[in-house]
Amino acid sequence: MNTYKNYLNTTFNRACRKESVDHTPVWMMRQAGRYMPEYQAIRAKMDFLTLCKTPEVAAQATLDAARILGTDAAIIFSDITLPGEAMGLELDFAPGPKFTTPVRTMADVDKLKIFDPKDELGYVMKAIELTRKGLPDDVSLIGFVGAPATLSAYLIEGIPGKSWIEFKRMAYGEPEIFEALLDKVSEVVARHAREQVLAGCDAIQLFDTSAGELATPELKRFAFGAAKRVVEKLGDLGVPIIYFARNVSANLELAKEIGSDVLGVDWTIELPEARRRLGDDMVLQGNLDPTVLFTNPEEVDRRVKKILDDAKGMPGFVFNLGHGVLHKTHVENVKQVVKSVHAYTKS
Ligand code: CP3
Repeated sequence: MNTYKNYLNTTFNRACRKESVDHTPVWMMRQAGRYMPEYQAIRAKMDFLTLCKTPEVAAQATLDAARILGTDAAIIFSDITLPGEAMGLELDFAPGPKFTTPVRTMADVDKLKIFDPKDELGYVMKAIELTRKGLPDDVSLIGFVGAPATLSAYLIEGIPGKSWIEFKRMAYGEPEIFEALLDKVSEVVARHAREQVLAGCDAIQLFDTSAGELATPELKRFAFGAAKRVVEKLGDLGVPIIYFARNVSANLELAKEIGSDVLGVDWTIELPEARRRLGDDMVLQGNLDPTVLFTNPEEVDRRVKKILDDAKGMPGFVFNLGHGVLHKTHVENVKQVVKSVHAYTKS
């Protein structure tokens, strides 16, 4: 039962539906993170997993970022790897995620549990409920999951891969094991995403950060195929589904077939080209290179305006970075992104 009403008439949600807006909505992937002193203060008191599992504090981290930056959406503070722990794998953060017994065989896949997110990830839902209470009505709350290929990549590698050899070896050499894993992970992330919406999230983003590591046939068959099945399972919820992948610009037309409402793009493509290839009906989100935020506010402003000029006349557009805010980014430059988007597009 949906006990918390979703906030579907915000600027962010309207833009996702291609409706008119009085300014371009903006939020940033990893907007709550180590670059921010308020986040560092929280982390000085507890480790990352404890933070994720303490709803009051996870809600505070989410709200702090949205308030300090003035974004049009908040993203719930959590991590894509947490469902892996609920599937039965031991998870550590040091500081990146580490599964101590990665998934390598069919027997490993068979052991993974499909669980009820209300029980095993109840702390995420509680954080969502608390966050929504503290969030202004015109700010959307975004829930998220790892897309099946990307969460599987972490389950297989155990740690963030450098060359993702185990992940790709399984996709290329043992496709039946890989497919069985994707099936289970797809079910898990679809259930988790649904529960986040029922708890009060106004949109869902699927992070497919590692999909672009795969060769095109496997990208299409496994990563996009599984993401499409997840999107289909969420279709009845009535909230926008954003699909974000990295390094897939060469296959953007295929990414559109996943059927998400919004497609997140990285900085390896310019928006006019994306629009030309995708047509006028796709809402795009992106795509400032997060490394631009290591320059200065003037440079940030200049490049934000260039993207907004490129996005003019699009049916709907959400400003974001092309990937997450990086560790050690200057807070002033992160704030500048929001200031520039709002100043340039508010009528
Ligand atoms: O503000 C937000 O965006 C919300 C929170 C959020 C986190 N992780 C918190 C986090 C979100 C949306 C994620 C998604 C996530 N997690 C992805 C997809 C997006 C991406 O960045 O590619 C991935 C691949 C992960 C897995 C993960 N978690 C990695 C690789 C790492 C270590 C590297 C890093 O960037 O720190 C984490 C840890 C993590 N997740 C931190 C945060 C704030 C840093 C942990 C710390 O405080 O020490």
